Amino acid sequence: MLAVVIFSRRKWRIIQAAFRRQQPKSMPPSPAIQVENLTKSFNGFTAVKPISFQVERGEIFAFLGPNGAGKTTTIKMLTTLLRPNDGKILLDGFDPWQHSREARQRFGIVFQDPSLDGEQTAYENMELHGILYHVPRQERAPRIEALLKQFELWERRKDYVKTFSGGMKRRLEIARGFLHTPGILFLDEPTLGLDPQSRNQLWTHIKTLNQQEQTTVFLTTHYMDEAERVAHRIAIIDHGALVAIGTAAELKTRTGTDSLEAAFLALTGTSLRDESANAGGDQLRRFAKMWQKR
Ligand SMILES: Nc1ncnc2c1ncn2[C@@H]1O[C@H](COP(=O)(O)OP(=O)(O)O)[C@@H](O)[C@H]1O
Ligand SMILES: [Mg+2]
Repeated sequence: MLAVVIFSRRKWRIIQAAFRRQQPKSMPPSPAIQVENLTKSFNGFTAVKPISFQVERGEIFAFLGPNGAGKTTTIKMLTTLLRPNDGKILLDGFDPWQHSREARQRFGIVFQDPSLDGEQTAYENMELHGILYHVPRQERAPRIEALLKQFELWERRKDYVKTFSGGMKRRLEIARGFLHTPGILFLDEPTLGLDPQSRNQLWTHIKTLNQQEQTTVFLTTHYMDEAERVAHRIAIIDHGALVAIGTAAELKTRTGTDSLEAAFLALTGTSLRDESANAGGDQLRRFAKMWQKR
């Protein structure tokens, strides 16, 4: 006997939404990040020349380059902190400048400069971020607990952040970056200044979350060994231009070298670069600016 089931429009929408949730994140066709001819100049100086690249969903993508190459400028443009002069950006299929609210909800950022409130506990720092990013109240506590445990900070959740070591602070910042379950996490030199053990541990956690949640990770680092270990693909930027893109193996083959460091030097030369004039800055201020634009 043929059974005909008639759903109300509302129920049908609920069923459709549930079905969409079951689809793996890799189903939609748009890449996580799509960039075409992105350009940025500061008073006539071109910091980022027209660059184009694509990052697939779930990929760990490393953006490497000497000091002043344009890495931070590119991340700032991708995350709506700096307006490009020209070019197209799509994050998860959204133009972050046209649909800033949707786009911002889809990514997380951890910058080179610390942005935690030392006068608050680890838990309070997480909670504030959860509120800012509209993580529903009932999801907030279990998610904070899971992330603090994952990053080995649960035992220290009630301690003031000012008492934490550099490695612990970085772990907390990155745990916080994952809190609103972003589709894309931007990490600008997340391991700068950490000892090898802390760096190693941090990447292990990031890799685990990348696998568990299929989070796309866009990172910059000066440590070639880290890039080789964690990144699926690597882009090398120098003087604002993309000079190579591929897997570590491809870059080595292309340059006829046997290490990523040697490949990097072959592609970017050995001359010393100045420290970025704009490396410092206050991330809290940047966040405030970003959220004011909502
Ligand atoms: N706000 C700014 N005003 C002027 N020049 C800037 C500004 N931000 C960055 N630059 C310059 O743009 C270039 C790229 O900087 P940046 O993206 O910070 O490099 P990286 O992160 O690769 O070290 C550098 O020469 C830097 O001095
Ligand atoms: Mg930088």
